[in-house]
Amino acid sequence: VTAAAFWAEALRSWAIPDEILAAAPESPWGFPVSVFVDMARETVSGPWTPTVRRAAEALPERGTVLDVGSGAGTASLPLAAHAGRIIAVDEDPGMLSALTSLAAGQPGSVVPETIAGRWPDVADRVERVDVAVCANVAYNVPDLAPFASALTSVARTRVVLELTAVHPLASLSPLWERFWGLTRPDRPVVEDALAVIRETTGATVGVERWERPQHRPGLLGEGVDWTRRRLCLPERAEPEVAEALRQLPEQAGRAMVTLWWEPT
Ligand SMILES: C[S@@+](CC[C@H](N)C(=O)[O-])C[C@H]1O[C@@H](n2cnc3c(N)ncnc32)[C@H](O)[C@@H]1O
Repeated sequence: VTAAAFWAEALRSWAIPDEILAAAPESPWGFPVSVFVDMARETVSGPWTPTVRRAAEALPERGTVLDVGSGAGTASLPLAAHAGRIIAVDEDPGMLSALTSLAAGQPGSVVPETIAGRWPDVADRVERVDVAVCANVAYNVPDLAPFASALTSVARTRVVLELTAVHPLASLSPLWERFWGLTRPDRPVVEDALAVIRETTGATVGVERWERPQHRPGLLGEGVDWTRRRLCLPERAEPEVAEALRQLPEQAGRAMVTLWWEPT
Protein backbone atom coordinates (compact mmCIF):
# COMPACT_ATOMS: atom_id res chain seq x y z
CA VAL A 1 0.00 0.00 0.00
CA THR A 2 1.05 3.58 -0.55
CA ALA A 3 1.81 5.83 2.41
CA ALA A 4 -1.26 7.89 1.46
CA ALA A 5 -3.55 4.84 1.54
CA PHE A 6 -2.09 3.74 4.88
CA TRP A 7 -2.70 7.22 6.34
CA ALA A 8 -6.33 7.27 5.16
CA GLU A 9 -7.02 3.77 6.49
CA ALA A 10 -5.35 4.47 9.84
CA LEU A 11 -7.43 7.65 10.28
CA ARG A 12 -10.59 5.78 9.36
CA SER A 13 -9.89 3.34 12.18
CA TRP A 14 -10.47 6.26 14.60
CA ALA A 15 -14.14 6.46 13.58
CA ILE A 16 -16.49 6.18 16.54
CA PRO A 17 -18.60 3.00 16.28
CA ASP A 18 -22.18 3.72 15.12
CA GLU A 19 -23.84 2.37 18.27
CA ILE A 20 -21.78 4.73 20.49
CA LEU A 21 -22.39 7.67 18.18
CA ALA A 22 -26.12 6.93 18.28
CA ALA A 23 -26.02 7.22 22.09
CA ALA A 24 -24.25 10.61 22.00
CA PRO A 25 -26.49 13.37 23.38
CA GLU A 26 -24.42 16.01 21.54
CA SER A 27 -22.01 16.00 18.62
CA PRO A 28 -18.57 14.77 19.68
CA TRP A 29 -16.93 16.75 16.84
CA GLY A 30 -15.82 20.32 16.45
CA PHE A 31 -13.23 22.44 18.20
CA PRO A 32 -13.87 24.88 21.05
CA VAL A 33 -12.94 28.30 19.63
CA SER A 34 -11.92 29.63 23.08
CA VAL A 35 -9.13 27.05 23.48
CA PHE A 36 -7.59 28.15 20.17
CA VAL A 37 -8.01 31.84 20.98
CA ASP A 38 -6.06 31.33 24.23
CA MET A 39 -3.37 29.42 22.40
CA ALA A 40 -3.06 32.07 19.66
CA ARG A 41 -2.92 34.85 22.22
CA GLU A 42 -0.09 33.09 24.03
CA THR A 43 2.04 32.48 20.94
CA VAL A 44 1.56 36.06 19.78
CA SER A 45 2.87 37.48 23.06
CA GLY A 46 5.23 34.66 24.04
CA PRO A 47 8.33 33.15 22.44
CA TRP A 48 8.06 31.89 18.86
CA THR A 49 7.39 28.21 18.40
CA PRO A 50 9.66 26.22 16.05
CA THR A 51 6.82 26.37 13.50
CA VAL A 52 6.80 30.17 13.51
CA ARG A 53 10.62 30.26 13.38
CA ARG A 54 10.74 27.92 10.38
CA ALA A 55 8.16 30.06 8.60
CA ALA A 56 9.95 33.32 9.47
CA GLU A 57 13.27 31.95 8.17
CA ALA A 58 11.85 31.56 4.68
CA LEU A 59 9.66 34.66 4.64
CA PRO A 60 10.99 37.52 2.48
CA GLU A 61 10.63 41.12 3.70
CA ARG A 62 6.88 41.95 3.69
CA GLY A 63 6.15 38.55 2.16
CA THR A 64 2.83 36.70 2.12
CA VAL A 65 1.94 33.96 4.60
CA LEU A 66 -0.88 31.50 4.02
CA ASP A 67 -2.26 29.76 7.13
CA VAL A 68 -4.42 26.72 6.32
CA GLY A 69 -6.76 25.50 9.07
CA SER A 70 -5.71 28.69 10.83
CA GLY A 71 -7.97 28.43 13.85
CA ALA A 72 -7.42 31.68 15.73
CA GLY A 73 -3.99 32.14 14.12
CA THR A 74 -1.46 30.43 16.43
CA ALA A 75 0.86 29.62 13.53
CA SER A 76 0.61 32.90 11.59
CA LEU A 77 -0.35 35.85 13.81
CA PRO A 78 3.09 35.95 15.47
CA LEU A 79 4.33 36.96 11.99
CA ALA A 80 1.76 39.72 11.58
CA ALA A 81 4.27 42.51 12.19
CA HIS A 82 6.73 41.06 9.63
CA ALA A 83 4.51 39.86 6.84
CA GLY A 84 3.09 42.05 4.08
CA ARG A 85 -0.01 39.86 3.89
CA ILE A 86 -1.58 37.06 5.88
CA ILE A 87 -4.20 34.86 4.27
CA ALA A 88 -6.10 32.59 6.65
CA VAL A 89 -8.18 29.66 5.43
CA ASP A 90 -10.50 27.77 7.77
CA GLU A 91 -13.71 25.85 7.27
CA ASP A 92 -15.03 27.31 10.54
CA PRO A 93 -16.03 31.00 10.10
CA GLY A 94 -16.11 31.38 13.91
CA MET A 95 -12.35 30.69 14.02
CA LEU A 96 -11.75 33.27 11.27
CA SER A 97 -13.65 35.98 13.18
CA ALA A 98 -11.61 35.17 16.28
CA LEU A 99 -8.42 35.50 14.23
CA THR A 100 -9.54 38.84 12.78
CA SER A 101 -10.34 40.24 16.25
CA LEU A 102 -7.01 39.06 17.67
CA ALA A 103 -5.11 40.73 14.82
CA ALA A 104 -7.10 43.95 15.29
CA GLY A 105 -5.88 44.13 18.89
CA GLN A 106 -2.25 43.74 17.85
CA PRO A 107 -0.35 46.96 17.14
CA GLY A 108 1.44 46.98 13.78
CA SER A 109 -0.39 43.90 12.54
CA VAL A 110 -1.46 43.50 8.93
CA VAL A 111 -5.18 42.99 8.46
CA PRO A 112 -5.51 39.27 7.68
CA GLU A 113 -7.51 38.26 4.63
CA THR A 114 -9.78 35.31 5.38
CA ILE A 115 -11.25 32.56 3.24
CA ALA A 116 -13.96 30.36 4.75
CA GLY A 117 -13.78 26.93 3.20
CA ARG A 118 -12.11 23.57 3.06
CA TRP A 119 -8.57 23.06 1.85
CA PRO A 120 -7.78 21.98 -0.87
CA ASP A 121 -11.27 22.75 -2.27
CA VAL A 122 -10.65 26.51 -1.97
CA ALA A 123 -7.01 26.37 -3.12
CA ASP A 124 -7.86 27.98 -6.46
CA ARG A 125 -9.03 31.10 -4.58
CA VAL A 126 -5.51 31.63 -3.22
CA GLU A 127 -2.81 33.31 -5.31
CA ARG A 128 0.78 32.16 -4.88
CA VAL A 129 2.20 32.96 -1.47
CA ASP A 130 5.74 32.93 -0.10
CA VAL A 131 5.25 30.61 2.86
CA ALA A 132 2.37 28.25 3.59
CA VAL A 133 1.87 27.08 7.19
CA CYS A 134 -0.59 24.49 8.41
CA ALA A 135 -0.67 23.57 12.09
CA ASN A 136 -2.65 20.84 13.81
CA VAL A 137 -4.86 19.99 10.88
CA ALA A 138 -3.28 16.88 9.32
CA TYR A 139 -5.03 14.38 11.61
CA ASN A 140 -8.35 15.77 10.35
CA VAL A 141 -7.43 15.07 6.76
CA PRO A 142 -7.80 11.49 5.46
CA ASP A 143 -6.86 12.59 1.95
CA LEU A 144 -3.47 13.98 2.95
CA ALA A 145 -1.76 13.67 -0.47
CA PRO A 146 -3.87 16.23 -2.41
CA PHE A 147 -3.96 18.41 0.71
CA ALA A 148 -0.14 18.52 0.95
CA SER A 149 0.35 18.81 -2.76
CA ALA A 150 -1.96 21.87 -2.93
CA LEU A 151 0.12 23.46 -0.13
CA THR A 152 3.27 22.70 -2.10
CA SER A 153 1.97 24.23 -5.35
CA VAL A 154 0.78 27.44 -3.72
CA ALA A 155 4.04 28.24 -1.85
CA ARG A 156 7.13 29.85 -3.39
CA THR A 157 9.74 29.32 -0.68
CA ARG A 158 8.51 26.93 2.01
CA VAL A 159 5.72 24.81 3.41
CA VAL A 160 5.65 24.34 7.20
CA LEU A 161 3.44 21.63 8.68
CA GLU A 162 3.02 21.25 12.43
CA LEU A 163 1.44 18.22 14.02
CA THR A 164 1.39 16.27 17.26
CA ALA A 165 3.71 13.28 17.40
CA VAL A 166 0.72 11.00 17.99
CA HIS A 167 -2.99 11.43 17.24
CA PRO A 168 -4.25 14.51 19.14
CA LEU A 169 -6.98 12.47 20.82
CA ALA A 170 -4.64 9.67 21.90
CA SER A 171 -4.59 11.05 25.45
CA LEU A 172 -8.28 10.14 25.73
CA SER A 173 -7.75 6.50 24.75
CA PRO A 174 -7.68 5.23 28.38
CA LEU A 175 -11.05 6.95 28.89
CA TRP A 176 -12.58 5.22 25.87
CA GLU A 177 -11.41 1.95 27.37
CA ARG A 178 -12.88 2.84 30.76
CA PHE A 179 -16.28 4.18 29.68
CA TRP A 180 -16.99 2.08 26.60
CA GLY A 181 -14.51 -0.82 26.72
CA LEU A 182 -13.28 0.44 23.37
CA THR A 183 -9.64 0.11 22.38
CA ARG A 184 -8.50 3.09 20.31
CA PRO A 185 -5.93 2.75 17.51
CA ASP A 186 -2.28 3.73 17.93
CA ARG A 187 -1.71 4.87 14.35
CA PRO A 188 -1.33 7.09 12.42
CA VAL A 189 1.62 8.94 13.95
CA VAL A 190 3.79 11.76 12.64
CA GLU A 191 6.12 9.33 10.82
CA ASP A 192 3.12 8.21 8.75
CA ALA A 193 2.42 11.82 7.72
CA LEU A 194 6.08 12.31 6.90
CA ALA A 195 5.95 9.27 4.60
CA VAL A 196 2.93 10.73 2.77
CA ILE A 197 4.69 14.06 2.26
CA ARG A 198 7.84 12.42 0.93
CA GLU A 199 5.80 10.19 -1.34
CA THR A 200 3.67 13.08 -2.65
CA THR A 201 6.22 15.86 -3.05
CA GLY A 202 9.54 14.04 -3.42
CA ALA A 203 10.95 16.83 -1.27
CA THR A 204 13.61 16.64 1.41
CA VAL A 205 11.70 17.28 4.61
CA GLY A 206 13.17 19.00 7.66
CA VAL A 207 12.02 17.62 11.02
CA GLU A 208 12.13 19.41 14.37
CA ARG A 209 10.71 17.84 17.52
CA TRP A 210 9.67 20.06 20.44
CA GLU A 211 7.30 20.23 23.35
CA ARG A 212 4.30 22.50 23.78
CA PRO A 213 3.65 23.29 27.43
CA GLN A 214 0.33 21.83 28.57
CA HIS A 215 -2.17 24.68 28.93
CA ARG A 216 -4.70 22.84 30.98
CA PRO A 217 -3.01 20.17 33.02
CA GLY A 218 -5.51 17.39 33.61
CA LEU A 219 -8.05 19.13 31.35
CA LEU A 220 -10.12 20.34 34.29
CA GLY A 221 -12.75 23.07 34.19
CA GLU A 222 -14.21 23.45 30.70
CA GLY A 223 -12.07 20.48 29.70
CA VAL A 224 -14.45 18.14 31.50
CA ASP A 225 -17.43 19.19 29.41
CA TRP A 226 -15.42 18.97 26.19
CA THR A 227 -14.01 15.55 27.12
CA ARG A 228 -17.45 14.26 28.10
CA ARG A 229 -18.89 15.33 24.72
CA ARG A 230 -15.90 13.83 22.88
CA LEU A 231 -16.62 10.54 24.64
CA CYS A 232 -20.31 10.61 23.61
CA LEU A 233 -21.41 10.63 27.26
CA PRO A 234 -24.40 12.41 28.85
CA GLU A 235 -23.99 15.39 31.18
CA ARG A 236 -24.59 13.31 34.28
CA ALA A 237 -21.33 11.44 33.57
CA GLU A 238 -19.30 14.61 34.20
CA PRO A 239 -18.19 13.88 37.79
CA GLU A 240 -16.94 10.48 36.69
CA VAL A 241 -15.19 11.99 33.66
CA ALA A 242 -13.52 14.56 35.93
CA GLU A 243 -12.36 11.76 38.20
CA ALA A 244 -11.02 9.75 35.24
CA LEU A 245 -9.15 12.82 33.98
CA ARG A 246 -7.55 13.32 37.39
CA GLN A 247 -6.30 9.74 37.29
CA LEU A 248 -4.52 10.20 33.95
CA PRO A 249 -0.74 10.44 34.31
CA GLU A 250 0.48 14.06 34.61
CA GLN A 251 1.91 15.31 31.34
CA ALA A 252 4.42 18.11 31.40
CA GLY A 253 3.82 18.97 27.77
CA ARG A 254 2.66 17.73 24.43
CA ALA A 255 5.10 16.18 21.95
CA MET A 256 5.00 18.31 18.78
CA VAL A 257 6.76 18.02 15.44
CA THR A 258 7.39 20.72 12.85
CA LEU A 259 8.03 19.54 9.29
CA TRP A 260 9.14 21.83 6.48
CA TRP A 261 10.11 21.52 2.84
CA GLU A 262 10.94 23.67 -0.14
CA PRO A 263 8.54 23.45 -3.07
CA THR A 264 10.32 22.35 -6.25
C1 LIG B 1 -6.99 21.84 15.82
S1 LIG B 1 -7.42 23.33 15.02
C2 LIG B 1 -5.81 24.10 14.78
C3 LIG B 1 -5.86 25.60 14.68
C4 LIG B 1 -4.51 26.32 14.54
N1 LIG B 1 -3.87 26.03 13.27
C5 LIG B 1 -3.61 25.98 15.69
O1 LIG B 1 -2.61 25.29 15.49
O2 LIG B 1 -3.92 26.43 16.80
C6 LIG B 1 -7.83 22.76 13.39
C7 LIG B 1 -8.48 23.83 12.53
O3 LIG B 1 -8.48 23.41 11.18
C8 LIG B 1 -9.75 23.62 10.60
N2 LIG B 1 -9.83 22.63 9.52
C9 LIG B 1 -9.82 21.28 9.62
N3 LIG B 1 -9.79 20.70 8.40
C10 LIG B 1 -9.77 21.72 7.49
C11 LIG B 1 -9.73 21.77 6.06
N4 LIG B 1 -9.66 20.67 5.31
N5 LIG B 1 -9.73 22.99 5.48
C12 LIG B 1 -9.78 24.13 6.22
N6 LIG B 1 -9.82 24.12 7.56
C13 LIG B 1 -9.81 22.94 8.19
C14 LIG B 1 -10.72 23.51 11.74
O4 LIG B 1 -11.89 24.24 11.49
C15 LIG B 1 -9.93 24.10 12.91
O5 LIG B 1 -10.10 25.50 13.03
